[in-house]
Amino acid sequence: MAGARIAVASDHAGFDLKELLKRDLLEAGHDVLDLGTNSATSVDYPDFGHAMAQAIGSGEAGRGVLVCGTGIGISIAANRHPQVRAALVHDETSARLSREHNDANVVAFGQRLIGTETARASLKVFLNTAFEGGRHAGRVAKLSKDLTK
Ligand code: RB5
Repeated sequence: MAGARIAVASDHAGFDLKELLKRDLLEAGHDVLDLGTNSATSVDYPDFGHAMAQAIGSGEAGRGVLVCGTGIGISIAANRHPQVRAALVHDETSARLSREHNDANVVAFGQRLIGTETARASLKVFLNTAFEGGRHAGRVAKLSKDLTK
């Protein structure tokens, strides 16, 4: 897996699931960087999506896990940065395809929408599935195309 460390981040609406997934990762022996939030007190999801992008861009983490209420806002925030390919995942199939086809480096979950066991299983699939490359490689490269050039 590219970049051993895994960053985790959430807003208040994703805090419980973020903590649970963090515990799973630590128990599995992963090196985890927790970017917050650290309680269920209301915060703004963009701050944590941007923090994830910073961690991925700087190389502090190779993979990331984001959680907010729906997974939508925090993945939008992260995906505003070209180094991030954040996939909003709903099940093990979308987790697998986000790796095989899109080389996603960040997975996002919606705590209010996904079952806990589905999220836990999907994260394992996300971390253990390789990018297929081949016909997908050029498409993934185009995701980061600099449109100003
Ligand atoms: C917070 O209430 C909620 O709006 C946020 O967690 C997320 O779902 C936004 O996309």
